[in-house]
Amino acid sequence: MHKIKPDDELKIIAHRGFNIDYPENTLLAYKAALNTNINMLEIDVHLTKDQELVVIHDDRIDRTSNGSGYIKNYTLDELKSYDFGLWKDSTFEGTRIMTFGEVVKLIQPYDITLLIEIKKPSQYPNIEEILLRELKEYRLNPERAILQSFDEKSIQKIAEITREYELGLLLSKKKYLMRMPNFNKIAKFCEYVNPNYQLVNRKFVERAHAHRLKVMPYTVNNVEEIQKLIDLGVDGIITDGPNYYFELD
Ligand code: G3P
Ligand code: CA
Repeated sequence: MHKIKPDDELKIIAHRGFNIDYPENTLLAYKAALNTNINMLEIDVHLTKDQELVVIHDDRIDRTSNGSGYIKNYTLDELKSYDFGLWKDSTFEGTRIMTFGEVVKLIQPYDITLLIEIKKPSQYPNIEEILLRELKEYRLNPERAILQSFDEKSIQKIAEITREYELGLLLSKKKYLMRMPNFNKIAKFCEYVNPNYQLVNRKFVERAHAHRLKVMPYTVNNVEEIQKLIDLGVDGIITDGPNYYFELD
């Protein structure tokens, strides 16, 4: 497959780790991503019953573990008893859910930024404060974290607490297919506007840039599509398989 040689300005973001070959949002997927020359690692965070931040995409464990039910109804200890690798392949048996703190410790030695998505914040009162507290506790340099969410209120809330971290608003295809976002409003509390890649056209990128908003579309898993977005001037590409689509050596 033809691979793209990225220029230094373009950020390459591993979505849920290198999740094409490994179980998403796990140590295996993150390690595989960190072993390539990516710029950012994208992760999703939820909150357990005992207020621990864990990395997982869905608010339930059904799809990616051998258990079932909502994250918010389990303690961390209970969640750690489930297998989060078997669903992908039997060779990944024994893979455990990771806490946010474990992920920060893992990435510390690498020259990458953590792109942290706060999932379903309306289900978790104070998840924003807990995330900010843990970022401090685990001593992640604020320049190495970008906090993003589909939930505008959640990101606005963080912006009111602190402007120490860069912030991003995620845009879904469902909500924005028929209308342009209000870049002026978004630029008041964000540095990034990260859309479903199908929302991106020249006008979108120009308007976002005119408001000093960077654009990092998700989730693009096709070389031609990635090249099209690069030609439109996006600032980053969120992809499941960075080393499948880019020359990263
Ligand atoms: O980083 C953006 C992207 O991850 C949003 O979609 O569903 O994969 O979390 P989703
Ligand atoms: Ca995500």
